[in-house]
Amino acid sequence: MIQRPRGTRDFLPDEMERRRHYEGKLRSVAKRFGFRETATPIFEDSELFILRSGPNIVDELYAFRDKGDREIALRPELTAPTIRMFVNSMSNDPKPIKLFYFGQCFRYERPQSGRYREFFQFGAELIGSATPDTDAEAIALAAAMIEELGLKDFRLKVGHIGVLRQKLKEAGIPDGNLAEILQKLDKKAYEEAVPLMEAAGVDREVMDGIFEFTDTVGGIEVLDRVPGDAGDYLRSLVSRLTAMGIEDFDIDLGVVRGLDYYTGVVFEAEAPALGAEKQILGGGSYSLSELFGGEDVFSTGFAIGFDRILLALEKEGLEYENEGIDAYVVPVSDDVRSEAAEITAMLRKAGISCDTDIMERKMGKAMKHASSVGARQAVIVGTKELESDSVTLRDMSSGEQTLVPISELIGRIQS
Ligand code: HAM
Repeated sequence: MIQRPRGTRDFLPDEMERRRHYEGKLRSVAKRFGFRETATPIFEDSELFILRSGPNIVDELYAFRDKGDREIALRPELTAPTIRMFVNSMSNDPKPIKLFYFGQCFRYERPQSGRYREFFQFGAELIGSATPDTDAEAIALAAAMIEELGLKDFRLKVGHIGVLRQKLKEAGIPDGNLAEILQKLDKKAYEEAVPLMEAAGVDREVMDGIFEFTDTVGGIEVLDRVPGDAGDYLRSLVSRLTAMGIEDFDIDLGVVRGLDYYTGVVFEAEAPALGAEKQILGGGSYSLSELFGGEDVFSTGFAIGFDRILLALEKEGLEYENEGIDAYVVPVSDDVRSEAAEITAMLRKAGISCDTDIMERKMGKAMKHASSVGARQAVIVGTKELESDSVTLRDMSSGEQTLVPISELIGRIQS
């Protein structure tokens, strides 16, 4: 038996229906905020991701050379492709441009619960400016999405990567070493950051100051520790969020992010119930368009780890009940199969979700099948009833049966 590749999943019908249900909720929230959906290719030129995504992503890239000798990579995320698309085809559109997307991403990671090699992101990008209002809009959308899904136990953290970058620069870390050190700070792996910072000539006291800074978490009072413009910027952001009713978040000066392109505000959400892979969402403000050959435009965005947030919902016991179908048409005997087919077609045309027996089953077995596919009503087609142009309608949950003229069947099922 051929198995699916490691780190990938199949989605069987029950799971797929559940996923579509939640995907639909996210899509409707994004539209409510004035975002419009886009789609980009599953694969891109590798360079798109090598340019600025940082060492984490590059190490995990599914990359190959195609038959035309081009370096191709399966997308590990959708921000770089979205900005490439903006540079290629949307750069003259009126700003801000508010886009959202849903699709699979690929990262060659060590698979475990909540971490896959093929996973799905639902994300949004707001292209046009770097203002507290833009960031607030992105964070508000993220919070509304989590709320719409119904997740209760999660933590939202907002930080500013620009401040940390500045501090590292002032400490004498050369640009080339910044990404590697930030990566260690992201994981709070201070003991691994020490030798890298020592090699760059940073003295221990400055280093400890930086570590302490990244460990600073709290409410608005924390902003007293953020110097200059960034502090003012964050204060404006907090006041916008408060105005929109978003108050349940921490200021966390240690939010670093695993990707390298962020320049300003950064934010993440975690669902503690997920354990090691608890990050359900990540984003921030960045500037990539100039790097991809366009004008210099700031953007802000985020992506929800769709698989992870569904896992978190499951852990909270939020169950999804499958929709089932409206009706199942059961021919009582072989001589009425044609009439049963005709009635099935009529119901489907009327927009009723409807199935019928196509396995030449006896009535008892067909009824069993009707309940296994979640039919709410059974339409029992028998010779005697047909003589009066009627069928028997059976409510599958109560078992109640009524004789219904075929001319009234659609209305009865719809009601
Ligand atoms: P990211 O933090 O790399 O950011 O990924 C976003 C989310 O995708 C994570 O918070 C996590 O929930 C989920 N995720 C990442 N890797 C995996 C995996 N191997 N298996 C399952 N879920 C995973 C980005 O990708 C940025 N493009 C977000 C963004 C949009 N920033 C600005 N705009």
